Amino acid sequence: MFDDVPLLPPDPILGLLSRFRADPRTDKIDLGVGVYQDEEGRTPVMRAVQEAESRLLLTQTTKTYQGIAGDPEFNERMLAMLLGPEHPALRDGRVRGVQTPGGCGALRIGAEVIRRARPAARVWVSSPTWANHMPLIGGSGLELVEYPYYDPVTRGVDFDAMMSALANVPAGDVVLLHGCCHNPTGADLDLAQWRELTALTLSTGFTPYIDTAYQGLADGVEEDVAGLRHMMAAVPECVLAASCSKNFGIYRERAGGVYFLARNTERADAVLSNAMAAARQIYSMPPAHGAAVVSGILGDAALRADWLQELGEVRARINAMRELLATRLAGNAAGTDFGFVRRQKGMFSFLGITPAQVTRLREEFGVYMLDSTRINVAGITPRNIEPLAAALHAVLAGSRA
Ligand code: LMR
Repeated sequence: MFDDVPLLPPDPILGLLSRFRADPRTDKIDLGVGVYQDEEGRTPVMRAVQEAESRLLLTQTTKTYQGIAGDPEFNERMLAMLLGPEHPALRDGRVRGVQTPGGCGALRIGAEVIRRARPAARVWVSSPTWANHMPLIGGSGLELVEYPYYDPVTRGVDFDAMMSALANVPAGDVVLLHGCCHNPTGADLDLAQWRELTALTLSTGFTPYIDTAYQGLADGVEEDVAGLRHMMAAVPECVLAASCSKNFGIYRERAGGVYFLARNTERADAVLSNAMAAARQIYSMPPAHGAAVVSGILGDAALRADWLQELGEVRARINAMRELLATRLAGNAAGTDFGFVRRQKGMFSFLGITPAQVTRLREEFGVYMLDSTRINVAGITPRNIEPLAAALHAVLAGSRA
């Protein structure tokens, strides 16, 4: 049976995390996997999460099966957070969806439903996109193709190239968009660009598939989803995948959801039945705990306010580290202007250094980032910024430590 099974290479992101953990150096710096770290380099349990978990322990009376779609209250509260409670798509009853095991589960169920609806649909993904989009979505059998997105010269979105390419996407194909905090580049569309893209969607007829894993980590919980809310108020159909891993800091609890906007309530019900059938075929029902915590926070005014407060602190810390890194890299020997780090959004930025420099940073200085040069800005702390900046200056100068 297993004689010819090949040994696969480690996952590009989680494999790097294993390498980091195995590195015995105590002064190593983790800018790899997209996990928030506080000033002390810890990934804390958020205050509201801790409180919601305590309440859950005291009040939970059963561990019996949930429904395939998970907790209806969680789905309702997630949609209100994502779209705003007064969103026209919700008012018209055109959105249905399921709670999923994290954002990955959401993306996969979304892809499974698209494949059931239209097996020949191609999914257009930004170049570059999150490394796991390809196996997650492609694993459902759908074909993936790339559209231009990031301009390494301006370090921002090449919006003209993106729009020109998407203008040729046929109706029936799907375009994957990052709701905010583009992973891996940190280069986001602004609201005016979301509006233009929405108009293009309406004229060409492709279906948007929006992955939103970082709501609240760029400018604010409401601000970060203004673009997708606009789009979903205008288009007839859309898929929205959401993760609670980052904004609630519950990475290991695997809570997320995938929501489908359909032309009318009857189509929405049909799509939901397919999402539930797909979930049943893969994992039957999502794990309950993380979603119960999120639902508990979103449904309680005081817990919600505290969560928003702490999320604001997380955001402010990331932005302060962006500022610090850009400042500390000024005047580097390579003459690179790292001011773009200030403009980019969310956890990630692309440093745009060479693969040899990435390797040297890891091997010589214990600084871990993805081979693509993506850094997790949330891995920078006031404590590691000096050695980090020194290491970056050294590799940029091409000198030995
Ligand atoms: C990341 O991009 O680092 C995170 O989304 C974690 C992951 O699963 O890859």
